[in-house]
Amino acid sequence: MYRKIKELLQFGTVGSAIEAKGWIRTKRINKQVIFLTINDGSCQQNLQVVMAPSALPKTLLNQLITGASIVVSGNLVASKGSNQLVELHGSQLTLLGNAPDYPLQPKAHSLEFLRTWPHLRFRTNTFSAVFRIRHAVSYAIHHFFHERGFFYLHTPIITAADAEGAGELFRVTSLNIAHLPKNLDGSIDFREDFFNQATNLTVSGQLAAEAAAMGLGAVYTFGPTFRAENSNTTRHLAEFWMVEPEVAFDNLEDTIALAEALLKCLLDYVLKQCPTELDFLNQRLLNYSKEQDRAELPLLERLRFVLAEPFARITYTEAIALLKEAESNKQGKFVYPVTDWGMDLQSEHERYLVEHHFKRPVVITDYPKDIKAFYMRQNDDGKTVAAMDVLFPGIGEIIGGSQREERIDYLEKAMQRTSIQDLNWYLDTRRFGTVSHSGFGLGLDRLILFITGMENIRDVIPFPRTPGHVPC
Ligand code: 4AD
Ligand code: MG
Repeated sequence: MYRKIKELLQFGTVGSAIEAKGWIRTKRINKQVIFLTINDGSCQQNLQVVMAPSALPKTLLNQLITGASIVVSGNLVASKGSNQLVELHGSQLTLLGNAPDYPLQPKAHSLEFLRTWPHLRFRTNTFSAVFRIRHAVSYAIHHFFHERGFFYLHTPIITAADAEGAGELFRVTSLNIAHLPKNLDGSIDFREDFFNQATNLTVSGQLAAEAAAMGLGAVYTFGPTFRAENSNTTRHLAEFWMVEPEVAFDNLEDTIALAEALLKCLLDYVLKQCPTELDFLNQRLLNYSKEQDRAELPLLERLRFVLAEPFARITYTEAIALLKEAESNKQGKFVYPVTDWGMDLQSEHERYLVEHHFKRPVVITDYPKDIKAFYMRQNDDGKTVAAMDVLFPGIGEIIGGSQREERIDYLEKAMQRTSIQDLNWYLDTRRFGTVSHSGFGLGLDRLILFITGMENIRDVIPFPRTPGHVPC
């Protein structure tokens, strides 16, 4: 009977007749015996297949190379080798798919090299571990919210709204771009477009989630998000996945508590559910740190540490004062020197606070209103808003959120100030039974980056989209 390798290794009875399928990872052969390790993606471990070469035709023997797919039947036996408890003594082997010139060799390839084969890298130890963890985290996100009475909301991908007001949109159009209809002033006449107006891919599901929270109470979105910002960094994608809870009657403190609970619950889940993947990635990181001569906290310790410690808290105003006095600032070590209240924090500042000062995740609150989105609730000082960012070691900002401006007059002023128009429907949420409410956005890919210890966000999402690059 055919069973997944994960099941065979966990529950297979020694002595039983079994059938396994998978892709060959390695092959060792001598006169008496051929050893193949095969993997079917169900778990980190490979299954060792042992056979007598004399049982196989010569042409088939030559086709048993890394990357080829096979089905083997035989007996599960206790292994003499130290790497596994059981192995498959094959009696029959069939080649399913040949793999001449398979580009991935049974050795450690660089991540840069593997990025040029994004459609094949699922078959490597590193990437299969990353993507199994990505699945586990996604599952745990749904579980977390469901258990707490949130409803999963599917917000539109195509939208007419620019939720963040940042103007970094991917346009969606069915117009013939070689012959664009024009207005008299030369601008494009979007009335001729599919939706009779200009539309773009969503930069956030938040505004729709706010409307839903005003009826359903507590909702969360979890979907792809698109930003045309030309940020060629290790933490930015043009298409990334964001989780956005939105809760009626919650204030800033409630949403900070929710964010901390969510992150810790997800770390706890992965530590419990993905030990072999984490062990593998931990070892990978240890080898890498040794090569680079870097003394880093091993991955598992890093995750357990974040889980155990309460997140640090600081206001933006306190953060600026602290950074101004920091030795790194005084010695000119920051690319962007910290000078005045009102400046935006750069990731080097965020990482200084997290990695050097507090040495744990930090929540920064109450940012100047001029550097934050229009929907954030203005504080009584008239200068700051009830915003919060959660910063993680090695990553910087992982979550951005706020209490929302529920007072229509304040909201309208903020929209005028930031030139946001055409959101009449959104204002209805404040016109009819407005209540305080809060929420945040968690960048899934950045969280996976942290959990797996990978260094580049392109290595935690299948087929990454970045400036100048769409692999397929
Ligand atoms: O801080 P941001 O821009 O917040 C919002 O979009 C709000 N509407 C969220 C809300 O309150 N509902 O983005 C939230 C998070 C960031 O903290 C970051 O983790 C991630 O989304 N993010 C990106 N991840 C990868 N690539 C990018 N280009 C990202 N931009 C934001
Ligand atoms: Mg942000």
